Amino acid sequence: MTEYAGRDGLAEMQQLVQRTWSPASRLHLGDLAWERSANVSRAAGWRTAVWRDGEQVVAWGWLEQPGHLLMAVDPGRPELAGTVVDWFRSTADGPKLAAGVLETEKHLLAALESARFRRQDDAPYFTHHWISLDALPAPVVPDGLTVRHARPDEVAKRAAVHRAAWSDLAPSKLSDDVMAEVMSTWPYRSELDWVVENEAGEFVASALIWLDAQHQVGLVEPVGVATAYRRRGLGQAVNLAALRALREAGGTRAVVCPRGDDGYPQARALYQSIGFRPGSRTLHLLLG
Ligand SMILES: CC(C)(COP(=O)(O)OP(=O)(O)OC[C@H]1O[C@@H](n2cnc3c(N)ncnc32)[C@H](O)[C@@H]1OP(=O)(O)O)[C@@H](O)C(=O)NCCC(=O)NCCS
Repeated sequence: MTEYAGRDGLAEMQQLVQRTWSPASRLHLGDLAWERSANVSRAAGWRTAVWRDGEQVVAWGWLEQPGHLLMAVDPGRPELAGTVVDWFRSTADGPKLAAGVLETEKHLLAALESARFRRQDDAPYFTHHWISLDALPAPVVPDGLTVRHARPDEVAKRAAVHRAAWSDLAPSKLSDDVMAEVMSTWPYRSELDWVVENEAGEFVASALIWLDAQHQVGLVEPVGVATAYRRRGLGQAVNLAALRALREAGGTRAVVCPRGDDGYPQARALYQSIGFRPGSRTLHLLLG
């Protein structure tokens, strides 16, 4: 086992997630790419442990917040889930310890429940949504707007549209430097990073897809439309354009993970309006 403080460990975490990925997995390698790059300013507080058997990564745990565990364990080595949970309990700080899994990750759930973590069924949760890329309508945008993919040198505009879409509750802190970090994190590809541009050359909507080429599955994360441009079909258009690019790049299906509870229904309404269909949900567990 190797422990890391800070940002190290991403490639090993992605290696395990990709090697063992199935539709029953909570995480796609793009989740890790996005979460570890977009939140890099919090990396000083991260704790990560990676377990290897020879060259192969077989388990990891990540304290993305002081008391919150994300983990992945090879389903062929279910006994390691308890080892990760033990590490979490001995490493974590704070009065409340919590963990998140997908309901289908039975080996993780069993280890958490046997360590006295309990499901919080009234907590907010996320639901995987799936779409096959066989039949995707062409994107349509209102006159004067253009849908295209971003270019690697458009970091500042790309960061600005993220902030314009993700500041409803509190101003987004995603800086240009952080967006540069996102855009240089594997497997980012600008051909899968789509935007809608207005007449002034500003980006007003965006949808980023991460492709797992081994499994031909893309993760859509994140999507946003600037407040002043909502309910004009741009969310649909930018997603459809990105999904068609994913198909051209070899993808056969895509997954996205919006809130499944009724506290934030608009994102899943958008994805369902495009043709995404709900699958498994996440579970939030608390110790005690
Ligand atoms: C969610 C979001 C991307 C939607 O973008 P948008 O451009 O307004 O979406 P569209 O105009 O393409 O809407 C398409 C359909 O989605 C659904 N929808 C979109 N916004 C909705 C809302 N606020 N409430 C209910 N349904 C909504 C509707 O079915 C809509 O069709 P309609 O307008 O004909 O009723 C936008 O509100 C946003 O950026 N929110 C903040 C960031 C976010 O939540 N991103 C997604 C997280 S996974």
